[in-house]
Amino acid sequence: MTFTSRNPADFNEVVATFPLASAVEVSENCRVAHEAQPGWARVPAPARGRVIAQVGRLVEANKEALATLVAREIGKVYAEALGEVQEVIDTCDFFLGEGRRLYGQTIPSEMPDKQLFTFRNPVGAVMIITAANFPAAVPSWYFIPALLTGNSVVWKPAEHAGAIALAIAELLHAGGVPKEVLRVVIADGPTTYAGLEAALAAGDVDKVGFTGSTAVGRKLGELAGRHLQSPCLELGGKNPMVVMPDADIDLVIEGALFAGFGTAGQRCTSLGTLWLHRSIHDAVLARYAQTVSAAAVGDPFARVLYGPMIDEKYLADHLLHLEMIQPHHSVYGSTGVGRIAADNPRAGFVGDPALGWFAHPTIVAGVRPGDALYATETFGPLVGVGAFDSLDEAIELANGHGYGLSSALYSNDPATIWRFRQGISAGMLSINNSTSGAEAHLPFGGNGKSGNGSRQSGIWVLDQFTRWQAMNWDYSGKLQKAQMDVTDLPHDPDFKIS
Ligand code: UN1
Repeated sequence: MTFTSRNPADFNEVVATFPLASAVEVSENCRVAHEAQPGWARVPAPARGRVIAQVGRLVEANKEALATLVAREIGKVYAEALGEVQEVIDTCDFFLGEGRRLYGQTIPSEMPDKQLFTFRNPVGAVMIITAANFPAAVPSWYFIPALLTGNSVVWKPAEHAGAIALAIAELLHAGGVPKEVLRVVIADGPTTYAGLEAALAAGDVDKVGFTGSTAVGRKLGELAGRHLQSPCLELGGKNPMVVMPDADIDLVIEGALFAGFGTAGQRCTSLGTLWLHRSIHDAVLARYAQTVSAAAVGDPFARVLYGPMIDEKYLADHLLHLEMIQPHHSVYGSTGVGRIAADNPRAGFVGDPALGWFAHPTIVAGVRPGDALYATETFGPLVGVGAFDSLDEAIELANGHGYGLSSALYSNDPATIWRFRQGISAGMLSINNSTSGAEAHLPFGGNGKSGNGSRQSGIWVLDQFTRWQAMNWDYSGKLQKAQMDVTDLPHDPDFKIS
């Protein structure tokens, strides 16, 4: 079976055609990576760090070409695609030095002539399964630290981002990562699951990393759990943005525009619901509606807010989510809803909408708990708006749907900010900033329906791709039993200062 990857902004353009793997090929790739892993782990960590440095420089030298491919294959606006490739470079820059750290500890023993140590060991062969919306940055959050710490990697990218993954794999191999140590295998979801199931049963996969929907995350979590593994899961979000009456409204509008509609809302960190204090609700909603209505949509190589949906399926899902709009809601943001077309035009559209999977931006006001839109991740250009009266109520609304990935608060009052920080259940919060736009060296991840508590990026991801090994070394020449042969120094428990 082959897969034809087309430009979602221009169906006539075939970006690439590549074969889809069978389940047997998926597990065979895992076997190859598993066999190669001990050899890679024996390469000294600083030397692996140099490989990561070389990869980073190659990605940098190919930044425009890779960003162009990202824009062509998944329709991400070129400026954002450049940012995405920069995030791969930043990740390499962070981890190249980790090859010279990868610290363990020396710890005093409770007994003489004995010393305690800790070491970080690689986990083994890692299978990572990634989504199409961040086809370069998010996979790099897995494979760069995994490789640096001595693991081998089988990467299953989304089919719609297959050409990008194959290009990145070439850069990794050119940078010095052995072909057996980093494998790319492209397959559909059920085939991947079957191949992974077999590879886990054969003992060829030691860790699973997955970025994608909560539903698939649950399935993979169950599968990994059967093998007593804890996967790294980065799942959906319904990211709230809470706006207090003292907020800088210009900043709010800019932040909500980028968070809600950048990447056509197809980020796991995209704004879900904009919660506005009732005293400013109508005024802010009116400005937001006006700004979104005036924004340019269309050709991702032009200066637009967003381009097409990643693929037909993403547009179809968006159309289904529009059915969640109820009579008590009011809709703003465009000259229509749904697919942009000659008979459903978007004012100021850049390009020919008939050639791609373009959708109108949609703001749905009047969202409240109990609405399907309150608790459903919509992953498209759809932002809910609701009102609240107090900070406590806003925090309850912001947490109540059970997702906990990203969140934002707009306020300049320190007490409000600290109370929000303490009350919000999300793994990430932005103060006076968009829900999207995480930097590559802070812990990234969520709670509740957004993940199992795993964190990517920075020093925190090291705990995903290494296991602590504890060593004790007794050079006393006798068996000293812990807890039993410990010397108690004489002391006087009844002593009082006279
Ligand atoms: C994702 O959508 O899976 O913070 C990740 C951000 C990006 C990463 C999003 N740097 O929005």
